[in-house]
Amino acid sequence: MSQQHTQIRLLHTPLAKRVFSTRTRKLMEFDIRRLQARLKRYKHKAVTPLSTKLHLGSGKRRVGGWLNVDVLGSDFDIDFASGALPWPARVFDCVVSQHVIEHLDLNEEVVPLFRELRRVLKPGGEIWLSCPDIDKICRSYLERRMADLLEDRMPRWPSYSLEGMPPSQMINDLFHQRGEHKNLYDFELLAWALTTAGFVDVRQVAEADLLARFPEFPARQDDRQSLYVRAVTPG
Ligand SMILES: C[S@@+](CC[C@H](N)C(=O)[O-])C[C@H]1O[C@@H](n2cnc3c(N)ncnc32)[C@H](O)[C@@H]1O
Repeated sequence: MSQQHTQIRLLHTPLAKRVFSTRTRKLMEFDIRRLQARLKRYKHKAVTPLSTKLHLGSGKRRVGGWLNVDVLGSDFDIDFASGALPWPARVFDCVVSQHVIEHLDLNEEVVPLFRELRRVLKPGGEIWLSCPDIDKICRSYLERRMADLLEDRMPRWPSYSLEGMPPSQMINDLFHQRGEHKNLYDFELLAWALTTAGFVDVRQVAEADLLARFPEFPARQDDRQSLYVRAVTPG
């Protein structure tokens, strides 16, 4: 059994449950999973991908015909924060990544990841991203005390509750998601990160545009709280 499996088992012992909160144990387990993926790919430098369409951070939403990658249980497990992607240059036509970049640190992880995505995309290759939108969240708080975003969240997350807390707690949930989120974006900040990494023609779009371009993707129906952006690599 690997050292990392032993560490994960330790996190589930009664003692670990007594001394660490569920949230801390979950975050620690995720970091061990990242370490596992990173060690697994350590020597993988130029693997030929099984598809020219990359679905980055697929989670449970695997899409047929795409290379669905995530930290665990995907077609090809990797740690997006490792600073290097294990594929050769110019192999992918497109990348889609929904609600993933907010889990990474902007300067140390997202910009290096975007640089790598630019490298592995073909000239003129497309990147489509979505994440929680600072602009929509702040507007909702100031103008509607989060009522619209709360209502919008219910179909996707029926068990979500503020447990009697004021609506401002939803801001904490969106910005931090119990320690999982590191950076949120508005269009200006995400466009800055993409252009810094060498992408061009950065445009704000809607979920409908993503679904029109790639109808095989299941709808998230989260336009009211999400930022959708698309950019391309220089041709
Ligand atoms: C909120 S989920 C989104 C999943 C899916 N894209 C969707 O729209 O439902 C975030 C996903 O990003 C993955 N993720 C976050 N940080 C990661 C990292 N450093 N390396 C690999 N995967 C990561 C998580 O495992 C999770 O599946």
